[in-house]
Amino acid sequence: MFDTVTQDLKLSYTPGVAKEAALYDRVRRVVNELDWATFAPYILEINRVKKQIGAVVLAHNYMTPEIYHCISDFAGDSLQLAQQASKVEQQIILQAGVHFMAETSKILSPDKTVLIPDLKAGCSLASSITGADVRLLRQKFPGVPIVTYVNTSADVKAESDICCTSSNALKIVESLESDTVLMIPDKYLAGNIAKQTKKKILTWEGACEVHERFTAEDIRKFRKAYPGAVILAHPECPVEVTAEADFAGSTKAMADYVTEKQPAKVVMITECSMSDNIAVLNPKVEFVRPCNLCPHMKRIALPKILNSLLTLTHEVTVEPAAAVRAKAAVDRMLQASL
Ligand code: 13P
Ligand code: SF4
Repeated sequence: MFDTVTQDLKLSYTPGVAKEAALYDRVRRVVNELDWATFAPYILEINRVKKQIGAVVLAHNYMTPEIYHCISDFAGDSLQLAQQASKVEQQIILQAGVHFMAETSKILSPDKTVLIPDLKAGCSLASSITGADVRLLRQKFPGVPIVTYVNTSADVKAESDICCTSSNALKIVESLESDTVLMIPDKYLAGNIAKQTKKKILTWEGACEVHERFTAEDIRKFRKAYPGAVILAHPECPVEVTAEADFAGSTKAMADYVTEKQPAKVVMITECSMSDNIAVLNPKVEFVRPCNLCPHMKRIALPKILNSLLTLTHEVTVEPAAAVRAKAAVDRMLQASL
């Protein structure tokens, strides 16, 4: 994982780095001192190079805490990252997240250089459907509007009427006139929205490999083991899981719930780094961490980020004609989310 460019830098935890590393206070609760000694030289170098080349780091809530709290310029859920990508001033965007997020940034900021530190950072939802699949769906369900989750490729977005994220999915569905809506590709997000609307929801056989692993039985066990704990689940979880939880919402909605309500104890039914990142900001809340790791998100690590900034790789491109059509679907979502 350590490539030649960053190896040549021979970064080490010198007394100078240690002295400057006041950033440690931000993550002390979730990063031990040994790990910090490895992270700190990278963090300082990344923050220096970022300024030097005029880059901005947009980080998803599932990034590990040293990325989320120590090098990101903006961190948030998929909707917030898309909103941010449409208005950043810097010429270079480094996406600390997965490939569809970097594509979304490129679609919204076509004149900017968008970098992803690892091209293999994919997503099981994005790989579950192609543009050709969506064209077939349109033939099969003529006149039914297609709402596409942002966790998809630019080609899929290009074939869609409007995009959504887990933050705004219900609002987007309700904004459409049709009584029937095709929500693709996440069958669980679609199922969770179907419970909240009178519209008929059709869907696709896609799922998030992280959230689909949680079961209703898991939730019942946590309730028994941690009486009184508030259980929060992401809407990419199966419907019977969110039904057992106290609250279901996007990563931002979960973070806001904890910040506003300050529950004594909370169980996060989602990706592992979420609890770490929110724990840092909510020292009085006790976190139970029954998490599942997203192997795609976890490909993004400090050495790769530094390498990406130093070599301006890997640049994410989107075929211009598809980008224009995909942008229309994303813009409609951003407009409807105001
Ligand atoms: P949100 O950040 O929109 O809740 O999405 C979660 C997710 O799984 C992103 O890949
Ligand atoms: Fe995709 Fe799930 Fe990983 Fe998010 S957490 S990137 S939806 S596989």
